[in-house]
Amino acid sequence: MAIPHPRDVQLAAVRWLDERYPFTKAVDEALYQRVPNFANAFYYCFGGMVFILIVFQLLTGVLLALYYVPDASSNPAPAYQSVNFIQNQVFLGWLIRGVHFWAANLLIIMVLLHMARVYWTGSYRAPRELNWIVGVTMLFIILALALTGYLLPWDTKAYFATEVTIKITAGIPIGPVSAFIKELLQGGPVVGPPTLQRFFTLHVFVLPALIVLLMYVHFRFIRAHGISEPL
Ligand code: HEM
Repeated sequence: MAIPHPRDVQLAAVRWLDERYPFTKAVDEALYQRVPNFANAFYYCFGGMVFILIVFQLLTGVLLALYYVPDASSNPAPAYQSVNFIQNQVFLGWLIRGVHFWAANLLIIMVLLHMARVYWTGSYRAPRELNWIVGVTMLFIILALALTGYLLPWDTKAYFATEVTIKITAGIPIGPVSAFIKELLQGGPVVGPPTLQRFFTLHVFVLPALIVLLMYVHFRFIRAHGISEPL
């Protein structure tokens, strides 16, 4: 019996899958989109760069979460020790942590460049206003991710920086609202173990889930309207 060519096996497998669900059509629809020629200009790539950096953050974040311990209830804090362990003992831990840190910084620069491009080409105007609002929401979520992530190493710099950021809530003019938000973030009278627990939950579960959801909405909007004509 002749040995089938690997390509034929592959085609047969794809055909088998496609008979069960139109995967090829779904992948085609998801990946292929004709874009106008003007979108070749380099400044149209910033949004895509932000997307790639977020994927990097999700992947390296999952790897860091394999070793990170969100616990500051004893001294020395397991949170601090676990970051030390990742940095100095885990195989390539320093690299994964470094990529997570630098990609976070680059991400913020790229989001601002992307936003500047959208503003400069007037792409926030009708009918794209809602997508601009989705974008601004994602910008705040990204900043919140940076802020909550900063506390996680639980070193002196992280601790006091978070104390300062939480104090900013005192600037909210309505007293009970300001007190409520402070209490919600801090989880006690001072920055302590409950604060770390809360920031960890926001950083690892709530905010990433929100950003993934909003990116999906952002891309559906872009698909619906196409890239805007330059002014
Ligand atoms: C998670 C962050 C974000 C991702 C992954 C993202 C991704 C993208 C991508 C891939 C595009 C296609 C065109 C391009 O890349 O320039 C785009 C377009 C757009 N983005 Fe974003 N973006 C993000 C944040 C923002 C922010 C912060 C704003 C504004 C406040 C914004 C507003 C828009 C608008 C209005 C468009 C349509 C532009 C047009 O039709 O020319 N995006 N985005």
